[in-house]
Amino acid sequence: MRVPNHIAIILDGNGRWAKSKGMPRSYGHVKGCENLEDICEVAKELGVKYLTVYAFSTENWKRSKEEVEGLMKLFRNYLKKCIKISKKNNMRVKIIGDPSAFDEDIQQSIRELEEFSKDFDDLHFQIALNYGSRDEITRAVNRMLEDQKKGILTGEVTEETISSYLDTAGIPDPDLLIRTSGELRLSNYLLWQLAYTEFYFTDVPWPDFKKKELVKAIEKYNERDRRYGGVKEDTNV
Ligand code: FPP
Repeated sequence: MRVPNHIAIILDGNGRWAKSKGMPRSYGHVKGCENLEDICEVAKELGVKYLTVYAFSTENWKRSKEEVEGLMKLFRNYLKKCIKISKKNNMRVKIIGDPSAFDEDIQQSIRELEEFSKDFDDLHFQIALNYGSRDEITRAVNRMLEDQKKGILTGEVTEETISSYLDTAGIPDPDLLIRTSGELRLSNYLLWQLAYTEFYFTDVPWPDFKKKELVKAIEKYNERDRRYGGVKEDTNV
């Protein structure tokens, strides 16, 4: 089985999963977080080199105060715990998105975790926090303009220049995108980076998306004929 080098996941369905069990949405996020820990190990075990997950979007601030506070508490705990996890999995952790909107202690935990894990190399784990693709592209363009003014950026802007200004600079584009829990949209996730990516949508909610489901997604990916605009092989001959 060909394992994708980079898998991106939209972690969806925590709330509905919890509701179906008569539990509060926050319980779904706690279980979703536990599942994320497991999936990191599974991804590493399977030989996935890059894993990028959408944990909090620029739109998620619109959720109830109670839910946002619950998520912040979860991020706080997880970012601290992740120091140990990164070592155990030899996993480099990077946050993509704009962390400036978070409380200072969260921003500090992000800096510590990124610094602590920077030389780990088995799995490169990107967590999108306060992330939105249009926001990422807008920030990138503004930084390009600033660098142009300073004379750091000269000459024609190429696709490579743009990629190098995104939060994902240096990270190869995803080969496979997975979205759990039945919605069929991108929700402002990695719009530039997903240009050639294969998509896999499943009804399984994130807390139930275990190893078996990840393997199923990779098997489906293996059935795809990945061409970048080339001529399709004639299978009838
Ligand atoms: C989507 O489910 C999930 C989120 C908005 C939060 C994702 C967070 C986690 C998986 C846990 C924490 C992760 C980290 C990195 C600590 P939803 O609430 O949109 O579910 P619904 O669509 O059923 O309402």
